[in-house]
Amino acid sequence: MALTTTNLEGTLPLIAKGKVRDIYTVDDSTLLFVATDRISAYDVIMKNGIPEKGKLLTQISKFWFSILADVCPNHFITCDVSSLPEPVQKYKDQLEGRSMLVRKFKILPIEAIVRGYLTGSAWKEYKSKGTVHGIKVREGMRESEAFDTPIYTPSTKAELGEHDENIHPDEAVKIIGEENAKKIAELAVKLYVKAKDYAAGRGIIIADTKFEFGVDESGNIVLVDEVLTPDSSRFWRADTYALGQGQDSYDKQFLRNWLTSNDLAYKDGVEMPAEIAEKTREKYIEAYEQLTGSKWAN
Ligand SMILES: Nc1ncnc2c1ncn2[C@@H]1O[C@H](COP(=O)(O)OP(=O)(O)OP(=O)(O)O)[C@@H](O)[C@H]1O
Ligand SMILES: [Mg+2]
Repeated sequence: MALTTTNLEGTLPLIAKGKVRDIYTVDDSTLLFVATDRISAYDVIMKNGIPEKGKLLTQISKFWFSILADVCPNHFITCDVSSLPEPVQKYKDQLEGRSMLVRKFKILPIEAIVRGYLTGSAWKEYKSKGTVHGIKVREGMRESEAFDTPIYTPSTKAELGEHDENIHPDEAVKIIGEENAKKIAELAVKLYVKAKDYAAGRGIIIADTKFEFGVDESGNIVLVDEVLTPDSSRFWRADTYALGQGQDSYDKQFLRNWLTSNDLAYKDGVEMPAEIAEKTREKYIEAYEQLTGSKWAN
């Protein structure tokens, strides 16, 4: 059974519901992130969920926090439900495997995107202007081609219901100040490069990803949010990668194809047939197993 919404019956205040995650306040310095099995495609959430997707996402983030811990500190505390406040523990069935206790920080309002490959909105901009987020890049690049070196291409962090806007790194300086902007630009690229090299050894191309950062009381930068999941990144299979065209998305391709061929893209309240949900679930499991090298045993 998919869990599409959590209900902790008031034991913790729910502060936000994202497309995928339900976020609760534990205390002044701690948040509980619960990844549900909701799935969105073309910006719309499907009526039914993908069983265990939230667990897979949580475990992928947890895995990366550990791999990347030497690059910069992060907000991860634990995924252990027995560390949660006593009254919440009776909701163990909703929380086990899919919840993450994290330290709360002041968030820098920039999406720290790093791109290793030319695709998506960057490819569109490059085709018309020869730039990516206003940055001049090499001429004659083809769709899905690797940049000579990965580039930091921030976007604004839009308010609810609005769209993030791609910006030049100089614009990020105006929003979060020179010192923080410089630090997160460097960190984001370092994190991406470490992850990309790791994933390459496991047959996965991380084409691009988005990080978020917070600052602690002493002004130190901390990696927050989810990291390097199929929801925050573009993962491609290395064995089917082909230059000069768009690549299949690792996880949502079945769903997107089904939606477009049934004229359901961008429509609200769509219910996925069992077969599409199951195939999509297999892709998330494959991503987890491929990346971590562990068997999915839940
Ligand atoms: N350690 C942290 N401390 C405080 N806020 C955090 C922390 N980590 C992440 N956040 C914030 O929590 C929110 C997580 O929301 P979530 O990603 O679930 O939904 P969303 O960003 O509103 O929408 P979407 O589903 O499109 O991502 C983001 O605003 C993020 O910046
Ligand atoms: Mg988000």
